Amino acid sequence: MDTRYRKTVIAGNWKMNMLPSEVRPYAERLRALAPANRACDIVLCVPHVLIPAAVAAFRDSRNRVFVGAQNLNEHPSGAFTGEVSAAMLADAGATYVIIGHSERRTYFREMDAIVNEKVSAALGAGLRPIICVGETLAQRELGITDDLITLQVKTALSGVPADKMRRIIIAYEPVWAIGTGKTATAEQAEEVCSHIRAVLRSLYGARTARAVTIQYGGSMNGGNAAELLSMPDIDGGLIGGASLTPEKFIEVIAAAGE
Ligand code: 13P
Repeated sequence: MDTRYRKTVIAGNWKMNMLPSEVRPYAERLRALAPANRACDIVLCVPHVLIPAAVAAFRDSRNRVFVGAQNLNEHPSGAFTGEVSAAMLADAGATYVIIGHSERRTYFREMDAIVNEKVSAALGAGLRPIICVGETLAQRELGITDDLITLQVKTALSGVPADKMRRIIIAYEPVWAIGTGKTATAEQAEEVCSHIRAVLRSLYGARTARAVTIQYGGSMNGGNAAELLSMPDIDGGLIGGASLTPEKFIEVIAAAGE
């Protein structure tokens, strides 16, 4: 990470885990463990129904934790049964939203074009998108990782003006490393994250590209976080499993301060 130009952001993605009643005990435990002067921002992306409880539990803490969602609908409102809009998330107190997670791309057939519409809906409501990109193992073995990531990044950002880029986080999550216990090596992760920054540079110029936070995600934990975060283009993490336990999440947060 290079803290001269951009923020380090450690974000948890609870996925479809935890109950509303479990949020406050988690928040209290995290608060008790968290160092007062943190070198990073902390975000927890929780299921939609947990957002009000999370906003209430994390709001007034000495160690503020920003609350995020894990998905949104690209439309502003209307007859879309079961969906949640950007304005609803913002009004409920969320500040971030994960967009284009590989689980949504795989299980809910979200394509790059929809990811792009969701990014613009999120920005329009003042939310900060965490845009996920990443290749499958088959794509890596075919040698098309860079081309695929270029396409994912460029399509997701189509129409996004340079002055909004400081509000955007790109998360590189190799699909083969998610929930598998198989982490990309720091070198593998850095190679793709620096490629992402090169794509941003080609789209927006060097000054804007160096201000964008790029996270790594995929089996990140207290044991591997420090090495990953020591790489120049890795500015944070998107943490699944290890964010479900305050004791484990705090280890990653602590690694960001090293
Ligand atoms: P794991 O940390 O459980 O591998 O999940 C990573 C992830 O998908 C975060 O969005």
